[in-house]
Amino acid sequence: MPAKPTTDADAASSAVPADPSAANPSAALPADPSAAVPAEAVTPLVRGIDVLLRLTEAGGTLSPSGLERATGLARSTVDRIAATLARMGYVRLDGRDVVLAPRLMELGNAYLSALRLPALLDARADALADALDESVSLAVADHDGIRFIHQATRRRAMSLSFRIGDLLPAERTAPGPLFATEWTQEEWRAWREHRATDPENRDFPAVPPLRHAFAGGEFERRAAAAAADGWALDDQLIEPGLVAVSVPVRDPHTGRIACAANVVSHTSRHTAADLRDTLLPRLREAVRAMEDDLREVPPARPAAVPTGLAAWTGASKQELGREFVESLARGLTVLTSFGEGRAELTLTEVAQATGLARATARRALITYEHLGLVRTSGRVFEPTPRVLALGFPPLSRVSLPEIAAPHMAELAARVHESTSLAVLSGEDIQYTARVATSRVMSVNITLGTRLPAYATSMGRVLLADLPPAERPLPLPLRPLTPHTVTDPGALARVLDGVRDRGHALVDEELEEGLRSIAVPVHDRTGRVVAALNVALHVARRTVEECERDILPELRATADRIEGDLRVAGRFTRVPVS
Ligand code: PHB
Repeated sequence: MPAKPTTDADAASSAVPADPSAANPSAALPADPSAAVPAEAVTPLVRGIDVLLRLTEAGGTLSPSGLERATGLARSTVDRIAATLARMGYVRLDGRDVVLAPRLMELGNAYLSALRLPALLDARADALADALDESVSLAVADHDGIRFIHQATRRRAMSLSFRIGDLLPAERTAPGPLFATEWTQEEWRAWREHRATDPENRDFPAVPPLRHAFAGGEFERRAAAAAADGWALDDQLIEPGLVAVSVPVRDPHTGRIACAANVVSHTSRHTAADLRDTLLPRLREAVRAMEDDLREVPPARPAAVPTGLAAWTGASKQELGREFVESLARGLTVLTSFGEGRAELTLTEVAQATGLARATARRALITYEHLGLVRTSGRVFEPTPRVLALGFPPLSRVSLPEIAAPHMAELAARVHESTSLAVLSGEDIQYTARVATSRVMSVNITLGTRLPAYATSMGRVLLADLPPAERPLPLPLRPLTPHTVTDPGALARVLDGVRDRGHALVDEELEEGLRSIAVPVHDRTGRVVAALNVALHVARRTVEECERDILPELRATADRIEGDLRVAGRFTRVPVS
């Protein structure tokens, strides 16, 4: 199978599409719900986007019949869309379920890199969260909602914590009144209308339904106060206990609000008044520094554009035939043409970046504009915060073991051996993921099992990445079998070899009869964050067979995990365990 070109992303088949919002009130909601579907919109793209939105709302997983119900599409259509998205690496077909896959985050990444704000401001937000020991978030305006673009979350059991991409109703948040200070009459009218048709905030699945309507004019009064004060509070408007204070971060060139910075707490630690009196000054100071940073920042250098996508979709069509919906795949590549230094693109630039015919690119852009995923001003198109609704909230919480698990299952099925993932924890390795085909080890390995790093292949891969003086070794090294390397000088030479060759093979040093081979898993910065191994009984394969047959498969699997990790880790911190 030709791999989709890794990047940071036909003419339509059917005639005029049915209005997706008619059957499905909240999912593929157009920017303006009363707007008719343009005749040139690409139906398969509208449907594919609806599938992605529904999967996101469902938390990342739905069965095909669940998708049929949620989208109102025929089963055969759902299957073809799912097959196409799977081919793109955007979903996995896991048994009977369709599951969002980390690669989908390249769409949200395209928006976030085009926006630049998270990359420019996240360090200040994280530093403030550390200094206050409270959660700090960044949010942008999204119509009558606010959408998170960064979260520096303190793990607390007490309240909800929101994810990058979550959308909240403006009036139930601290940033909302700040954004509303810039609303036009038309935007105020749209807000009133939307709340009249959705009084419980069902269109905002990230928040609990609103039980008691606000007093008339309350949000208007909060917006007026926000305009006068330059900050705003959320005193338990989302749920009891949850409080937040927010300050606008202004674009130094336009003076308009670029995003809002928020400090979030719980009434068990701070009341809302307390937040205002004690934490607001620190937040304002951080925001001043953010605005200074924005003033100094040089113009974005255009990122490399994806190449070869049009050829890839053509080849996939050849291979999969009817099951591959080429107009959906091509339409999705349009979103990946945006990025850092490519925030605003003309039709010609989009066509050039994707390799699509102008007419094809144009119809995709018209479709996205209708769905509120792209907006135009003059001749240029830019992605909107709504692009984050395509999978980002559930995927932004994915961990390395979750990323690795499906790739490890494929590896185990190919080589018919058990495979594990581990991280370094003190002098030990600790297992974080495992796919077992048989029990070759007398020690019963489960998640969390610890083994001494110096005598295991995964441990050696992890130790080899550290400077020799920083390798945690339990000296003197104990012989676990007659074969265990226990001389520190000899082990240092072994580790140098592991680092140079990029893999470790340990033969009966941990346990007699056990042979294990491991490779490193690197993060975006090139640091080794985990090790991946295959372990087997010595009778199954010789050392040479392991290196000839298993090692290339291990490397290919580590490459796939690293590819996913690069996409997932671009704007979120992916936990390694
Ligand atoms: C959050 O970041 O979780 C947050 C921000 C503002 C609010 C509520 C929660 O008003």
